[in-house]
Parts: sequence; structure tokens; C-alpha cells
Amino acid sequence: MTNNNMYFVANWKMFGNLRSIKSTNNVLKLTKSKKFQKLRIIYCPPYTLLDALIKKTKNSKISVGAQNCHYKSDYGAYTGFVNAKMIKNIGANYIILGHSEARIEGDDDKKINFKIKSALDAKLKVIFCVGESLKNKNSNKTSQVIKKQINVGLKKINNYKNIIVAYEPVWSIGTGILPSKIELEKNINFIRKLLNKKKNGKKVIILYGGSVNSYNIKNLTKISQIKGFIVGGASLKAKNFIDIIKKSII
Ligand code: 13P
Repeated sequence: MTNNNMYFVANWKMFGNLRSIKSTNNVLKLTKSKKFQKLRIIYCPPYTLLDALIKKTKNSKISVGAQNCHYKSDYGAYTGFVNAKMIKNIGANYIILGHSEARIEGDDDKKINFKIKSALDAKLKVIFCVGESLKNKNSNKTSQVIKKQINVGLKKINNYKNIIVAYEPVWSIGTGILPSKIELEKNINFIRKLLNKKKNGKKVIILYGGSVNSYNIKNLTKISQIKGFIVGGASLKAKNFIDIIKKSII
């Protein structure tokens, strides 16, 4: 079995400046070697670095995405926001939506559904994040919460060609705590079942995000349902990100 076509999403969150762009040099080099050519590496920097990263990775195997957008498809008087078509217009191809850190700032399932629709209309590929909080987990509400996030988030969407789902348990993000293998398989299988029920949902791939690093990646890659990773903190330093990528390829 080979897994050299996995996804590696670098979610830089609210980190980075123009100097950080340099950190992609060695990742660019890596993507040129045959062994790593099929990988899908997607950098999602803050809005301020999108243009520089798009220029830097032009004609390479690396793609670039944004971390959020406004739910309105059209232009309008929304100070401080950008819409999906503006993101597409500068040359980005992906967008993270539904991230728990954006949910904290006011993105609810319904709003996320509007955002997904507008991103798909703009021809962006959507990395749709779902996952339970510690409170949900401790009150045995994980399945219930994920079901609502998926069913409301993907309401009235029929074309899943450009959708990727990322399972990110909120309690694992930035904490160094990982779900057990059993827990991961259970929750990812549950997401799989929900997606399979949707017309054309069978082909949607599922990524994992939450405290992924070069020490735990080997074990995570053993879980066959996981088709790639969305990496926060460990994606900020090229060396760590490259270690993760190298260790996942068998
Ligand atoms: P960490 O890798 O820092 O836990 O963040 C995960 C995440 O939020 C990816 O979207």
C-alpha cells in the first residue's frame, strides 16, 4: 500500500509575515522529488500573505487557500471582510470553512452552509472542518454534534466534487492531546456514513486535524480512513512540516 497521494494542509492561522514565505523553499524542493510528487500540499496563510504565497508557488505542486470568507457571494458594504470570489480572483484554489476557531468567532452551522455554497460557486475547493468540543465529548454528544454540523453545513449541496471534510476534535487542537485510535476510527467512520448517505458523497475524503506532529504522524497514518492531515502549529516551521510529510509516506 502506498499513501503518497495524501493531503497536507498547513493552516497558519493568525501567524506569519512576509519573511515566513521563505519557509516554503524546502517544501517546494521536496515536491520536485519523484517520491513526493503526488502529494497534495496546501498552504492556508492569513489573507495578508495569500498573494505572496500564490506568486511564490506558481507553477509548482503546492496549492494555496484562505482560512475563511464572508457568507455573501456578492460584493457589498461589509467592512473588514472578503468574499469567496475575491479569494478565487487572486489565484487561491482552496478555502478552510467551519474551523472551530472561526465557529468561536460567530460562524454557526447555517452561516457555514452559506459560506460553503458561495465558495463552491466561486469554484474554490472547500476544506470543511467538523468536530466536537470537550464538553460535547464528556456528555456523549459527539455523534449528535457532528451530525448537525455535517447535515446543516452541507444542506442543499448536491455536488461534493470540491468538498473535503476535516475531522478536528476541538479538544485536540493546540493541546498535544490526540484521540485514541478507536475513538478516531469510530468518529471518522461515523462521518463517512453520514457522507455516504448523500448523493455523490461517497467520494468525499476525510482528513484529520488536531496536534499533528512529527512524533505522532506515523501512528496516525496507520488509520486507513484518514486521507491526509490539517496541521496548525507544526506547519509554521518548514522543518517540522517536512518531517511530518516524510514520515507519513511509506
Ligand atoms: P494544531 O495542529 O496546532 O493543533 O492545530 C490544528 C488545527 O486547528 C488545524 O486546522
